Amino acid sequence: MNNTLDVIKKRRSVRNFKSEQIADSEIASIIEAGMYAPSGRGDQSWYFTVVQNTELLYEVSEAVKRIYASLDNPFLQSQGKNEKYHLFYHAPTVIIVSGNKDALLPELDCAVCVQNILIAAESLDIGSCWISGIDLLAATEEGRPIIKKLNIPDAYKPYVSVALGFKKNENPKAAPRKENNIHFIR
Ligand SMILES: Cc1cc2nc3c(=O)[nH]c(=O)nc-3n(C[C@H](O)[C@H](O)[C@H](O)COP(=O)(O)O)c2cc1C
Repeated sequence: MNNTLDVIKKRRSVRNFKSEQIADSEIASIIEAGMYAPSGRGDQSWYFTVVQNTELLYEVSEAVKRIYASLDNPFLQSQGKNEKYHLFYHAPTVIIVSGNKDALLPELDCAVCVQNILIAAESLDIGSCWISGIDLLAATEEGRPIIKKLNIPDAYKPYVSVALGFKKNENPKAAPRKENNIHFIR
């Protein structure tokens, strides 16, 4: 599949992964796609942490879940309290995208970078899912040691993560797109 529009439309969030690891060359291509995203002022403020250590991923998942459980948000609270919930759905590879604190728009840089990552993964038939919550680690006492463990340099703040792995199932159909939200002025 090499038509970009088809790839964009076919991509779905994948939450069921095979345990088989994806290749380093695939990770390199996926990250390279992220690096070619636009960025505010051309800062390219992203920093990538590739985690394939199951125990560390579990630790990160549990730390974020504890924060979720303490929040005043019923959706996140129920995820935080759900013993079976794994933040990364046991994906064999997780990429954490952090942004340079001195950049103009690091959070937006990381967001567009991750979108490129998701599209690139789909183009290689690799499943992916955008995972939030990682940003909360920087805001809490208990999260900061985890950021240290992840070796994220002090100049960077983690914003987004992506779960990656081979898909266990075919992509489901996309939900119907919302209509009547385009307004032309000519
Ligand atoms: C800003 C943002 C945050 C998201 N956070 C999560 C998340 O923490 N966990 C998760 O499983 N999916 C997360 N997703 C994926 C969405 O749930 C998913 O994109 C949406 O349900 C539409 O499904 P699709 O990606 O298959 O089209 C996130 C997506 C975005 C854009």
